[in-house]
Amino acid sequence: MSAISITGLHKHYPRVHALKNIDLTIERGEFFGLLGPNGAGKSTLISIVAGLTRFDEGSVTVLGHDVLTAYRQTRRLIGVVPQELTFDPFFNVREVLRIQSGYFGLRDNDAWIDELMQALMLTGKADANMRALSGGMKRRVMIAQALVHKPDVVVLDEPTAGVDVELRKQLWTFIRRLHREGHTIVLTTHYLEEAEALCERIAILNRGEIVALDTKRALLARGIGHTRRVCITTAEPLGPLPESLAPKLRRQEGNQIELQLDKNTDSVMAVLDDLRARGAVITDLSMEGADLEDVFVELTHGGSA
Ligand SMILES: Nc1ncnc2c1ncn2[C@@H]1O[C@H](COP(=O)(O)OP(=O)(O)OP(=O)(O)O)[C@@H](O)[C@H]1O
Ligand SMILES: [Mg+2]
Repeated sequence: MSAISITGLHKHYPRVHALKNIDLTIERGEFFGLLGPNGAGKSTLISIVAGLTRFDEGSVTVLGHDVLTAYRQTRRLIGVVPQELTFDPFFNVREVLRIQSGYFGLRDNDAWIDELMQALMLTGKADANMRALSGGMKRRVMIAQALVHKPDVVVLDEPTAGVDVELRKQLWTFIRRLHREGHTIVLTTHYLEEAEALCERIAILNRGEIVALDTKRALLARGIGHTRRVCITTAEPLGPLPESLAPKLRRQEGNQIELQLDKNTDSVMAVLDDLRARGAVITDLSMEGADLEDVFVELTHGGSA
């Protein structure tokens, strides 16, 4: 039985067709990445799977249970860490986790709550009021909150947004542990390196449609076939690029530019000639194959909805 199965899903908001005929199956035990630019529909999809948002057409099941007709079951099987930080400022961390346990009818959940707090390095903050916590700490509490009932399927919507590098690494370790222990993990992230480091299979959503769905390895192989990144250092900063190169620009900082070139149609030599013709003195050049970011940019044309 699949962890999550979505067929023919459509979701309209008054002004936007947010999900267009989504078909997606995530198997038990997978570490799945859901990527896409702002407004692609990731949070909407997650919210539907969590049974929190209505949809117009299609069907969604969690471990075989329909999110509409078997809401009570699906809610117990899934733990969702929402993208927005929402919390009640009047409770401390332990209270928040006890209240959440209460929603699932779990009394005497303190042993697990303690374990969760320890794993998320919250033990020292157990008695701290939510409003007194830093953003990163609140994020950890929300993760603990999603796990109080030991759900099979754990869905994390941008769990590391606005989180510093060290905490991000700690969260990765923690999420990896959940996965090792048998949980199905679905993760959305804007950090493509994060998806690359963690996820086995990835869907890329763009404007409500799945534009890629494959193993990370296959996606990367696909990227390497098409594009390469070229980093060019010049003696002087280049200023605005000519019209022919501007669409290929990935980054421009001081006297360095990074271009994404199509292996089949763009010639590195032609680019260099073009720059030299404009008086640039090229002092360094490096080239790389694609990483997930290139694949992402290629598939979503770098655009937000
Ligand atoms: N409650 C709502 N009412 C109306 N429109 C909404 C609502 N929630 C989302 N939308 C719209 O639906 C589309 C998808 O939004 P969603 O939040 O799912 O995207 P996302 O992929 O999670 O983006 P982000 O990366 O910014 O979190 C956007 O166009 C958004 O403006
Ligand atoms: Mg979102």
